[in-house]
Amino acid sequence: MNKFVKDQIGKLQPSATLAINEESNRLKKSGKKIYKFGFGQSPFPVPESIVSKLKNNAEKHTYLPMQGLETLRSAVADHLNKNNDNDFKKEDIIIGPGTKELMFLIQIAFKGEILLPAPSWVSYYPQAIIGQNKVHWIKTESDNNWFPTAEALIKKIKTLKNKNILLFINSPNNPSGTVCKNLKEIAEVAKKYNLIILSDEIYSRLTFNDQYKSISNYYPEGTIVSTGLSKWCGAGGWRLGFFALPEHLKDLKESLKILCSESFTSVSAPIQYAAVEAYKGNHTAYLEATKKILSFTGNYVYDNLKSNKINVSKPEGGFYLFPEFNNAKFSSSTEMCKDILNKTGVALLPGSDFGMDKTRMLARLSYTDFEGNGFLQHILGGKKLDKADLEKFAPNIVNGVLTLKEWSNSL
Ligand SMILES: Cc1ncc(COP(=O)(O)O)c(C=O)c1O
Repeated sequence: MNKFVKDQIGKLQPSATLAINEESNRLKKSGKKIYKFGFGQSPFPVPESIVSKLKNNAEKHTYLPMQGLETLRSAVADHLNKNNDNDFKKEDIIIGPGTKELMFLIQIAFKGEILLPAPSWVSYYPQAIIGQNKVHWIKTESDNNWFPTAEALIKKIKTLKNKNILLFINSPNNPSGTVCKNLKEIAEVAKKYNLIILSDEIYSRLTFNDQYKSISNYYPEGTIVSTGLSKWCGAGGWRLGFFALPEHLKDLKESLKILCSESFTSVSAPIQYAAVEAYKGNHTAYLEATKKILSFTGNYVYDNLKSNKINVSKPEGGFYLFPEFNNAKFSSSTEMCKDILNKTGVALLPGSDFGMDKTRMLARLSYTDFEGNGFLQHILGGKKLDKADLEKFAPNIVNGVLTLKEWSNSL
């Protein structure tokens, strides 16, 4: 242990993702073709009307209220209430520099224990450790779409002495690309045992069947809704996300506000003004087109990978798949990903980074390695997609999947 580093920080391990990225860069420098299937970023440009609002507000330079711009909070509350049966008010909304930062601060404020479904997004666990909150994993299976069943949840809760429990649910899911089908059932358990749910809805507007339902509808008093600009409007680098907290969790909200003011103060002013347009404007055509591309691309990858050697769930939202290579035999999923990278140039992230047992040959595949703008312009008029479009606008997807399949067949 380093004498200048706190114990819980010193214990954090660099993620295997880092090793894969370093290896990708090394191979790329040596001239090898790399398929960037490890990257979790929207390939599309930010809608023009939102960019234009940002330009027009570049002169906004003062600090804004610590909870966020009032007009933005109203727009966000209206948006949530319109798309779900919520009743959020602007006072319930906190704007942050990305939801990751708000999740980090809630781990600092929250006193209790954390329940994470395995698999889960890579940052929940280290953030909980930094916040000194104990983490408990709940196993899930592809048969249940990679979400916890009510029975598994109850079984786990019964083993915990601490009754202050924060459960993370992320649907559509990173890494599995699936949508939770038993939200109501999970909500009922949460209600019975007084859990707090952090509903990470960062991919909600990228639900392919358009029928997104938030768990906050079934358990409004105990659910924190977390979402923002990063995924649906291609603005990850703008850093704007928000939490909607129900009245019932007022104390947590007040503490979170203090942590916001003592850390980032307020989100960049021009970005907040631009975000008003993101939530007030009509972006249906953009969303329909981007979802059509993502769904077509995801299904192409799924159809081409799924076999008796590769288990994979059908993509339902977001931009990931979570294949399991049944006939691969490596000491860990990290070793498998290194082998795939070295032999094929396809960069994937090991399942162990998402809380899965390292001996399961799982990896996260992101199907966003293409230039989104050209693809988007091509289909904005409502054109039907076919394989030729994918070959033209997303050749790395077509070639990367082919080489990955060949790798799996060669085992
Ligand atoms: C599941 C999930 N939650 C949260 C985030 C963080 O998003 P933000 O850009 O709002 O910090 C990501 C980004 O990769 C994510 O995949």
